[in-house]
Amino acid sequence: MTRLDKLLSDKLNITRSQAKALIKSGAVTVNGRVINTSDFKCGEGDSIVADGKTLDMREFVYIMMNKPQGVICATDGKGDKTVLDLLPEKMRRKGLFPAGRLDKDTTGFVLITNDGDFAHRILSPSKHIAKTYIAVLDKPADDAVIADFEAGMSLGDEKLQPAKLTVLDGCTVKVEITQGIYHQIKRMFKKHGITVLELKRTKMGVLELDENLGYGECRYLTDSEVVKICQK
Ligand code: URA
Repeated sequence: MTRLDKLLSDKLNITRSQAKALIKSGAVTVNGRVINTSDFKCGEGDSIVADGKTLDMREFVYIMMNKPQGVICATDGKGDKTVLDLLPEKMRRKGLFPAGRLDKDTTGFVLITNDGDFAHRILSPSKHIAKTYIAVLDKPADDAVIADFEAGMSLGDEKLQPAKLTVLDGCTVKVEITQGIYHQIKRMFKKHGITVLELKRTKMGVLELDENLGYGECRYLTDSEVVKICQK
């Protein structure tokens, strides 16, 4: 059980003193009863409404966002807009972070969560969970490039895990990687003299980006979708 002011602060991403003031104003009910005391104890089974808004009592949440260009995957943008800034008010809460980074100009599937263990599991190269991208290149990739991706190429000092490169149509390709090193896909192509003009992540594990989400839009994942991300 948790103090009501702490719960409000965590779930609404407000300060403890803002939570206390809200409680004092009579704007908070627990199971239909107005509660005026900040140290009132409550927990997951309770229905809490603050200022007309029902609190999301889940401990962990998993959000799929279709990231637009020009925003960064970070909790603090230091002047840049972040994916967290794009979350609608009702989805904001303490502890959310993007699990993994897409470049500022990369679009597509970003997972936002407050579950650190889960994030670690899906990002760890040792778990071999594929992230799928569609890339538009400045020139076609030939068989030698495909073979180098599949062999596990060397980038500087680093020996990469095998990746899968499939030509979809001329300069449009699909790339599946299980790591997430800095600018990985752009650097893999650069090694072969190819520039990535556009990059979009379309899939994590076997879970596809929801095509109904426009750029900057997001939605919660269902329990079965969370499981799908971990599948190979
Ligand atoms: N590889 C890149 O080069 N950039 C991304 O954003 C993701 C993978």
